[in-house]
Amino acid sequence: MAVLLWLLLALLGCTTAPDPALEETWEGWKILHAKEYPGEAEAIRREVWEKNLQRIQQHNQEESQGHHTFRLAMNHYGDLTDEEFNQLLNGFTPAWQEEPAPLFQASVALKTPVEVDWRAKGYVTPVKNQGHCGSCWAFSATGALEGLVFNRTGKLVVLSEQNLIDCSRKLGNNGCHGGYMTRAFQYVRDNGGLNSEHVYPYVATVRDEEEIKAGPWLTPALLFPGIFSSMFCSQQVNHGMLAVGYGTSQEHGHNVSYWILKNSWSELWGEQGYIRLLKGADNQCGVANQASFPVL
Ligand SMILES: *[C@@H]1O[C@H](CO)[C@@H](O)[C@H](O)[C@H]1NC(C)=O
Ligand SMILES: *[C@@H]1O[C@H](CO)[C@@H](O)[C@H](O)[C@H]1NC(C)=O
Repeated sequence: MAVLLWLLLALLGCTTAPDPALEETWEGWKILHAKEYPGEAEAIRREVWEKNLQRIQQHNQEESQGHHTFRLAMNHYGDLTDEEFNQLLNGFTPAWQEEPAPLFQASVALKTPVEVDWRAKGYVTPVKNQGHCGSCWAFSATGALEGLVFNRTGKLVVLSEQNLIDCSRKLGNNGCHGGYMTRAFQYVRDNGGLNSEHVYPYVATVRDEEEIKAGPWLTPALLFPGIFSSMFCSQQVNHGMLAVGYGTSQEHGHNVSYWILKNSWSELWGEQGYIRLLKGADNQCGVANQASFPVL
């Protein structure tokens, strides 16, 4: 009995021993991403990181057997659990809290090009980093506005997320704890404009530690050459990105269509900060659920 109890306590109370074979990789990863942990935090983070590394290796092995269309690699989020990752980085207030948006109806006569990439046309600013703040909604909104401004003026101006975070609260946006692109657009309209990033820089502050609700979405360690699709990707949207184009590529003898999405998790994430997400009938990750764009 005493032995059993001790075993149980040991299981509950301790982190598993780190794999000595990974020592050098761990130290290298910490240096690369300037990670420092006080005291006991190191062992906890190491354990999370090792688990993520195992998931990556497992996924990539399955990919080599043709079970996935993309690969994973370790990145700067590798020391976070799924829950921590969702709480820190996602920030689109879930769809069921928002009034339903009218469904976009393309006219039958609408002719669309086979592929579009607004980056090549000069519409898109460099990839940004929202940091530890659930402000994806502000980054998605500025991205769309930057494109609109470019279209009208021919000038690419990096716009201020912090301006939206600090000033659109009265419209129901909640700073680092989530918000809506549509309400950000509303703020810009009411305010008659938005400051540039240069004038109003990003600080990513979290002032009150109110818990944000977010379902599991993507694993912390995503960095994937390839087109992303997953049967586990929820259609309950909790993250916003900027659509900058679409296209088709040949994968294993098939034509696969994808959306090109700009994320705000730095260039270290995904394909230099972007993701190509499977485009087609099954609304991967709820990509078509809450799409919005501003007009002038
Ligand atoms: C702005 O958009 C209009 C309508 O799509 C297009 O005709 C025009 O060429 C665009 N301007 C620029 C600078 O891209
Ligand atoms: C893929 O797309 C190309 C270009 O549109 C087309 O010529 C080709 O027949 C397509 N291949 C398949 C397998 O559908």
